Amino acid sequence: MKSRREFLSAGAAMGVLAATHSRAATTAPAKSCVADCSISELNERIVRRDFRGITKDMLPTPCLIVDLDLFNANVKQLADTAKSNGINVRPHVKVHKSVDVARHQMSAGAIGLTCSTIAEAELFSGAGIKGMMWTKQPVGLNNTQRAIALSKKDPTFMFVSDDAQVLEWVEEAAAAHNAKVRILVSVYAGLARQGMEAGQPAVDLAKKVAVSKHMQFEGFMAYSGNAAHVKGFEARRKASMEVLAGVRESKALALKAGLPVNIISGGSTGTYNIDHETGLTELQAATYVFMDTDYFTVGGNDGDMKRYNDFKPALTVLTTIDSQYHPNLISTDYGAKALARPTDIVKEMPWLKVGNGGAEYGALTWKDGEQHPKVGDLLEIYPSNLDMSTNAFDRYYIAQGDKIVDVWPIMGRTGAAQR
Ligand SMILES: Cc1ncc(COP(=O)(O)O)c(C=O)c1O
Repeated sequence: MKSRREFLSAGAAMGVLAATHSRAATTAPAKSCVADCSISELNERIVRRDFRGITKDMLPTPCLIVDLDLFNANVKQLADTAKSNGINVRPHVKVHKSVDVARHQMSAGAIGLTCSTIAEAELFSGAGIKGMMWTKQPVGLNNTQRAIALSKKDPTFMFVSDDAQVLEWVEEAAAAHNAKVRILVSVYAGLARQGMEAGQPAVDLAKKVAVSKHMQFEGFMAYSGNAAHVKGFEARRKASMEVLAGVRESKALALKAGLPVNIISGGSTGTYNIDHETGLTELQAATYVFMDTDYFTVGGNDGDMKRYNDFKPALTVLTTIDSQYHPNLISTDYGAKALARPTDIVKEMPWLKVGNGGAEYGALTWKDGEQHPKVGDLLEIYPSNLDMSTNAFDRYYIAQGDKIVDVWPIMGRTGAAQR
């Protein structure tokens, strides 16, 4: 371990040492810890659902904070718009992995939920939510058995496929368990990771499903993830129309061949007010509930080309500023394990640059003359990518102003057979 003298000289040699900044000179924490800060007391209160008097400054940091009013406004905005545009909502749970969030979405009129792993489908179905759609195909013994078991337990569950061989395995497994499974054919819509050629090949696969004994054809999925973040509403609309032409053609050919097409699923936060025109019957939007900085600047239909004002930033990472010895740089406890990224944005101090100082260390930097935080301050930071950030935490603290009014668990590493 370096002595303080070694540290000081190393810093001076690197030319980064603060003028003179001893610990004694740093500002004391804004609020000293009192008995209420005890983590066991906090956890007991959460179990009892007694949130009286719990405020943000009592929480262990880093942690996730949801602004309840903004979250509710986001859920309502998407639900109301979809309703007036005549398109269904089956929101994707991958960004939140929370039964509580899902219940808000269902109460606002969602017809089910979309998920990216079989574990997510099991969790939400187990919580009593119907209409789970899994956007990957089951491959391998474990996934296949679980998909069949869930289909038997919950006949509203469905999943996608883009592969004739996989469908043969599924049919065989379903036959062995006397199950009937519901299938959507996944069609390419601009993302190379998944989706077969649209048009006749997709319809041929749909026919294979339709004539089978243990599978039922429900329709198509076409997820156009690249179109979602195209900047500017009109450009995004154009990109979406183009990339979804294939699934529209697939539907037309399927209907011509006498195959009913109940569902065309896809869409995103960026295209929620576009996809009723692109041919989709339902939306898989995800990020809109909380928003992340990746979406802040895609531009909306309100003429603002730079901001996406349709949905409000409802989720932040709360972090404690815990050390400063160098000029224009201060340390936080929001580091690599909490997935701090340079594209994150500090709430109310957007000029601060977010950096990563190690597993449990984050860094904030600023230019000379800019306002900056001090040791002991609490800051909130908007994360860049919800999928990643929410996967690093076990719970959301639900806030109204400074008050914590609820705690929602995140499905995570405990309680699930996989993510
Ligand atoms: C399959 C699928 N559907 C829908 C979405 C929509 O997500 P968002 O609304 O966050 O753009 C995603 C996001 O990655 C996805 O992977």
